Amino acid sequence: MLITFEGIDGSGKSTQIDLLQKYLNDKGYKVNVFREPGGTDVSEMIRGMLLNPEIDIDPVTELLLFSAARSQLVAEKLLPLLKKDVIVILDRFFDSTTAYQGFGRKSIPIEQIKQINKVATHQLVPDLTFYLRLSLKEAAERTRQFEKDRMELSGDSFFQNVFEGFEHLSKTEERFKAIDAGQDIQAIHEDIVSILEKRLEK
Ligand code: ADP
Ligand code: TYD
Repeated sequence: MLITFEGIDGSGKSTQIDLLQKYLNDKGYKVNVFREPGGTDVSEMIRGMLLNPEIDIDPVTELLLFSAARSQLVAEKLLPLLKKDVIVILDRFFDSTTAYQGFGRKSIPIEQIKQINKVATHQLVPDLTFYLRLSLKEAAERTRQFEKDRMELSGDSFFQNVFEGFEHLSKTEERFKAIDAGQDIQAIHEDIVSILEKRLEK
């Protein structure tokens, strides 16, 4: 089973993934967690380029680098793991490309982004996507003290467009489960667990 977490920077994905991993481990499930971009040697090297605030990257190059990092993760780790009886959790997947490179950067039309996503994922689609829905203002308050990477230096209107991208996906993709990420950490965890438990029972 493949579960992904999506949402703007600072929406609480890593926090909730840690909690969910512990919860599932305690129930006896084998769980593997990866972050995007990353998760393989090649993908972590590409991540270093993508997040480095000291380099300029053309929007189409950026799209292809995120996609290249993803293809390597899928081929090297995800496809072999998903053949076994494990749960894989991803901190971001191709929906982030739709939201950031598509709605945010407007690097190429969304329909073309979807085609590139299909290639980069080797057609792998999550079973369930938790969308941690948080206002840009609240996310900014939570991450104020952290140093900003290249993506986070992209400006308010870019992030407004990214937010709208996620909103669009949550209305159009059945696998998207929007969670109120403005709640306290435990309440969010309980919302996630209750949705997942229903799915695991099936
Ligand atoms: P993301 O992985 O989406 O960037 P994080 O899990 O790293 O988000 O959370 C960003 C910051 O907000 C961290 O400092 C984290 O401790 C804090 N945080 C996470 N969830 C909540 C919450 N529900 N309420 C308040 N602060 C939170
Ligand atoms: P990261 O620190 O992992 O994200 P977060 O701040 O949510 O913990 O940084 C990854 C950055 O890359 C983040 O700003 C989102 C962006 N991104 C894209 O623009 N496109 C993508 O396809 C992916 C996976 C991430």
